[in-house]
Amino acid sequence: MATSSSDPVVSIDNVRKEYQLGGTVTALDGVDLLFEPGSYTAVMGPSGSGKSTLLNLVGALDTPTSGDVIVAGENVATLSETERAALRGTRIGFIFQTFNLMPRLTAVENVALPLMFAEWTRSRRRERAESLLTDVGLGNRFDHLPKELSGGQRQRVAIARALSSDPELILADEPTGNVDTETGTEIMSLLRDANDRGNAVLLVTHERRIAEHADRIVNVRDGVVEGIEQVEHTTPAETEVGAVGTGAGQGATEERR
Ligand SMILES: Nc1ncnc2c1ncn2[C@@H]1O[C@H](COP(=O)(O)OP(=O)(O)OP(=O)(O)O)[C@@H](O)[C@H]1O
Ligand SMILES: [Mg+2]
Repeated sequence: MATSSSDPVVSIDNVRKEYQLGGTVTALDGVDLLFEPGSYTAVMGPSGSGKSTLLNLVGALDTPTSGDVIVAGENVATLSETERAALRGTRIGFIFQTFNLMPRLTAVENVALPLMFAEWTRSRRRERAESLLTDVGLGNRFDHLPKELSGGQRQRVAIARALSSDPELILADEPTGNVDTETGTEIMSLLRDANDRGNAVLLVTHERRIAEHADRIVNVRDGVVEGIEQVEHTTPAETEVGAVGTGAGQGATEERR
């Protein structure tokens, strides 16, 4: 089905997700959400509330037990494994807490991987990958393997990889979970840049401070959306550096802890 630019990039309608493991675990219990093109949403909630389950459904890594997940006009449940892989490869960029880089591929090769779907020449893929790595500050690490990079550098490779096919949707599951505070700030600023260029971003986190980088926070608990709040950013500069010297919060109107 064709999509127009005004269609939501993701629409989730009355979605349930159950896992059968001994008994039945209900990870999502009737969730409705829309993600508009170019939007920036954080999904926040305690451990086990269903955040990763939601992200995996939106990313077409899994299918719902019932309800509809429509991504870029495609109903994920009706797609074959191959079609879902193609959807992920062309329309969605993933950033995981544990980076998920291919261990035997260099930084440049990891970033170029999603471009296999684009049927570009090898040299064009390499050129694009080098330019993205340079953008994330890794212009001097092209041919390093993941094990030859620090955690923060690996996460930046993962971000460059997520951006390589210029997907309309970027999914990030706890992207700052395994890096120090300073690297975390850089990562959040790279995500903000990607969003400013028009990519929709869906970020999962249990930290309010991180969630407040988004424009909207969806609070989940026990597989249910408890509430949705809009984040008011004062100025972009304050949002990015956490308001150095002013004592203000991370861009939200007030601290809510
Ligand atoms: N593959 C699975 N099989 C069985 N149960 C699962 C599976 N994946 C998740 N669950 C259960 O579903 C619930 C939601 O899990 P989920 O991973 O979505 O939580 P989360 O909000 O991402 O938590 P965290 O912040 O710890 O990452 C949990 O109770 C979990 O135990
Ligand atoms: Mg999780």
